[in-house]
Amino acid sequence: MLGNFSYHNPTKLYFGKNALDYLNDELPKYGKNVQLIYGGGSIKKNGIYDKVVEILKQNGKNVIDDGGVMPNPTVEKLRDGVRIARENKTDLLLAVGGGSCCDYAKAVSVSVNCDEDAWEKYYVRFENPDCEIVPVGCILTMAGTGSEMNGGSVITNHQAKLKIGHVFGDDVMPKFSILNPEFTFSLPKRQMVAGIYDIFNHICEQYFSGDDDNTSDYLAEALMKSVIKSSLTAIENPENYEARSNIMWTATWALNTLISRGKTTDWMVHMLGQATGAYTDATHGMTLSAVSLPYYKFICPYGLPKFVRFAKEVWNVDTTGKSDEEIASEGLSRMENWMKTLGLAMNLRELGATEDMIEGIADATIILQGGYKVLNRDEVVSILKASL
Ligand code: NZQ
Ligand code: ZN
Repeated sequence: MLGNFSYHNPTKLYFGKNALDYLNDELPKYGKNVQLIYGGGSIKKNGIYDKVVEILKQNGKNVIDDGGVMPNPTVEKLRDGVRIARENKTDLLLAVGGGSCCDYAKAVSVSVNCDEDAWEKYYVRFENPDCEIVPVGCILTMAGTGSEMNGGSVITNHQAKLKIGHVFGDDVMPKFSILNPEFTFSLPKRQMVAGIYDIFNHICEQYFSGDDDNTSDYLAEALMKSVIKSSLTAIENPENYEARSNIMWTATWALNTLISRGKTTDWMVHMLGQATGAYTDATHGMTLSAVSLPYYKFICPYGLPKFVRFAKEVWNVDTTGKSDEEIASEGLSRMENWMKTLGLAMNLRELGATEDMIEGIADATIILQGGYKVLNRDEVVSILKASL
């Protein structure tokens, strides 16, 4: 375990079938005006909206309706949310939905009391907030991003063709998050599996870096095994509570900073996926699945021992009489089979990307240090072409 770090996570979680009851414990801590943030209407169909509004009313709150947060929330919606919060003197931003609602709530939280343009300040210049932050709470209805227990907030600017994430500090993370696995039962299968792959890839992004003996890697392997097992149950029986609760809990731990401790981390699949998302507006997890195999096949020779370990520990590859290259390759092909079993997007064309977008997507791809190979632009282009 190398590296110097601190670890602190301020988000309080309530998990389980009765988790929503604890909203009653949290609400008295905040002022009267609650901005109720939600997406395109799934929470109205599955009844979660009514349950939440009832609890808000019982607690004497003034409910400010802020629906219509789209998947991959846009900078225009962010500006609208800031206006709503200013006009209504919002005391608490309560996001009810998936990562898009949680991310949007965080972006609004740091922008309400800030005079500068939020996109320029946080997503272009990557500055830290220097204004009063409006507290955020989260009621999660989709497992995947980990936004319920982290400071991440991804915003899309379609005009600039950019999708950028800012990881804010402890003071922006949700004050509390409510996780009832049953709330995810109504997810369409495509969203469920996109979330499952998002979880798995978050773990990979932290695992595929470094060559020291690191406790974080053992934790990562355990999380990967759990999500693989539960995913196979959940696609057969989406209402299997045991599987869906494991998926929800794994999502949180995959990206709440624990398993990145002592790791340099990679995140290039996310950079490629986010750039693709800026061009196609495709579902986040699917943008990751579409580019993953070409990327991992490309970097495998640079991090071979870790790919061998991945094959053995995560995919149970029998190593007898095989070279390291063969073992690593078998690990990746088992991962590919699993991805196909889930029904994930396996190439960019399925997501609406075309050959003429490749150069633009490459331009929008932020190249990070930290993984087994720092890519150059030509390599980004060739990985994207291999993903088409
Ligand atoms: O909008 P509604 O009608 O609610 O429908 C949503 C949406 O269409 C639907 N949905 C959610 N819960 C449901 C449901 N439908 C039926 N029943 C339910 N219980 O699912 C669709 C997708 O929702 P969304 O919130 O967009 O999905 P997700 O949780 O994957 O969030 C994606 C956003 O999070 C960002 C992504 O880039 C993307 O913008 N990310 C945030 C991260 C973070 N904060 O750390 C990290 C991730 O890597 C990711 O980049
Ligand atoms: Zn992700």
